[in-house]
Amino acid sequence: MPSKNRLQTGSRIICAFNSYFHLSSISQMKLTIEKDYDGMSLRAARQVIDLVKSNPDALICIAAGDTPKLTCELIANLAKKENVAFNKCYFVSLDEWVGIPPENEGSCQYFLRTWLFKPLKISDDQVHLFNAMSKDLEKECAGMDKIIREKGGIDLIIVGVGRNGHIGFNEPGIRFEEYSHVVDLDETTQSVGQKYFREETKLTQGITLGLQHLMEAKKAILIANGIKKADVMKETIEGEIHTGMPASIMRKHTNAEIIIDEEAASKLTSAHEIQ
Ligand code: F6R
Repeated sequence: MPSKNRLQTGSRIICAFNSYFHLSSISQMKLTIEKDYDGMSLRAARQVIDLVKSNPDALICIAAGDTPKLTCELIANLAKKENVAFNKCYFVSLDEWVGIPPENEGSCQYFLRTWLFKPLKISDDQVHLFNAMSKDLEKECAGMDKIIREKGGIDLIIVGVGRNGHIGFNEPGIRFEEYSHVVDLDETTQSVGQKYFREETKLTQGITLGLQHLMEAKKAILIANGIKKADVMKETIEGEIHTGMPASIMRKHTNAEIIIDEEAASKLTSAHEIQ
């Protein structure tokens, strides 16, 4: 049995988190607390590099947003330094703002092209991204699900987390069993999302992979940094697993890791078993 209050901050600690006091059905999720944003980003980037080294055809999905920015930069740097070829792997997008064109700097697609595809020289035939300008968004969802299915599922998915606990645009209340779908965005998502845009932008709907995609991914990583994510990480890791806190689904995945920095971990209070 893990002893209480063994969670420490300071140097890097890797914990295997047994949610033994919540649900015995939960297997094990790895919780890694890195000192800072750099450490968090490096650990996530390293896993992408190692995956592509061992499985050059891997299907990868990485979130857009502030959290994965350095992870993406480090993936590109490490790929160059270690001579890792990304010319056979395939990427799908996690989500997109409905009605926002790809050339808009605030779009998820713009992020991925700028921070990941261009530096890694990923060609257009290696990616399948949501077209959030489509008149037929249901068809977009079906097309995305088909590609993922045909490629045998996602090998590695790296997600961020919203302050309301969303993953992708799987907002609080979403069913865990959904595949790709269109969603009305939460008020928090609409207002926090303004940070990605130069000018005030109407954000009402999103198109997103579902949590079932995350559950079926061979490995799922959630990254979060900064004090602003401390409350949501406490809920995710120590709260109940429920649809009101979509990120808590990570604890049901059989091969998941949450990588956070010390600030994001600063409100954790429960017992954690340190490996
Ligand atoms: C973006 C996405 C969102 C973000 C989340 C956190 O593709 O999927 O769920 O991961 O809103 O955003 P940041 O990283 O900007 O705090």
